[in-house]
Amino acid sequence: MILVTGGAGYIGSHMALKLLENNEKVVVFDNFSTGHIETIETLMKEGKDNFEFFEGDLLNLNDLNALFKGRNIEAVIHFAAFSLVEESTKNPAKYYKNNVTGSINLLDAMHKYNVNKIVFSSTAATYGEPEEIPIKETSLQNPVNPYGTSKLTVEKIMDDYDRAYGIKSVRLRYFNVAGADSKCRIGENHNPETHLIPNILKSTFNNKKTFKIFGDNYNTKDGTCVRDYINVEDLINAHLLALKYLLAGGKTDFFNLGTNEGNSVKEIFDLCTKVTNKEIPFEIAQKRAGDPAVLIADNKKAKEILGWNPEKTLYDSIKSAYMWELKQNERNKK
Ligand code: UFG
Repeated sequence: MILVTGGAGYIGSHMALKLLENNEKVVVFDNFSTGHIETIETLMKEGKDNFEFFEGDLLNLNDLNALFKGRNIEAVIHFAAFSLVEESTKNPAKYYKNNVTGSINLLDAMHKYNVNKIVFSSTAATYGEPEEIPIKETSLQNPVNPYGTSKLTVEKIMDDYDRAYGIKSVRLRYFNVAGADSKCRIGENHNPETHLIPNILKSTFNNKKTFKIFGDNYNTKDGTCVRDYINVEDLINAHLLALKYLLAGGKTDFFNLGTNEGNSVKEIFDLCTKVTNKEIPFEIAQKRAGDPAVLIADNKKAKEILGWNPEKTLYDSIKSAYMWELKQNERNKK
């Protein structure tokens, strides 16, 4: 059985669904702080007897004991975390408690119950303002916000837990994750939504909110920020490969998950207007604090060691995200 923490959230639920499709037994652990009950209902429907849900909190040791006790957990895939950069600058305590203490509690429970393999959601935010583009795994990790620091701290703790207790980890440093399940069963649903693609797509609906481009005088091809958008299903495939790698006895390691390519906010906006075939109201707004101009991953290491190959295009990501937004919009009308 595989434990997926944060499996009611955006990326964790895509992971759980994929594992279930591969006939794995899955237990999802989530406290619904940002996840959704509807997502769990979908996973139950898809996974049937292979799926189990445990509502609990990483900060509650009783929950963790009850989770691990009596279950045959082979490995953990750990998504549960808060992930909003701006919020982390205003409320660092929330990020350090949940992301760092929560992860320590999880690792301690793994140690106690002899589970020694973990795949961890890390982030490009651990690099901070990059010193080189594309960013390699060997690039300096110097986070510029508490969210990035919380994830880097957990990466370091994982090295120590390997040396002392033999817990092997694969840390996957995500760039900008985009898109939804290609069968439209699950997708991105944040409240508030801060991410670029869902925000552009939401501006196509009737109660149209003007989409804001945060800054157009960056030192980039068209003045707007450049990011590396990786499709969520491709990202999940990398987790499956990382899991396979650990189950085959692989050593602790870390990988960037991105496409090696960057797109500007304006390029994404233009592609969204093509995919939706709609005029989308927009305006140029102030820069958002802490946004680096360019973040692009060097993904060679994941290709070479894990045998990963991202296959989806940006068009695929925007299309699946749009299908999901349309479904959400219909649901909200009822
Ligand atoms: N943007 C807009 N308007 C919006 C939303 C975003 O112009 O309404 C711009 C942002 O300024 C940025 C780009 O679109 O330039 C992408 O922004 P997102 O919020 O979608 O993503 P980020 O690059 O800020 O954040 C992502 C992850 C974080 C992670 C970070 C690493 O979501 O979890 O990359 O830097 F920490």
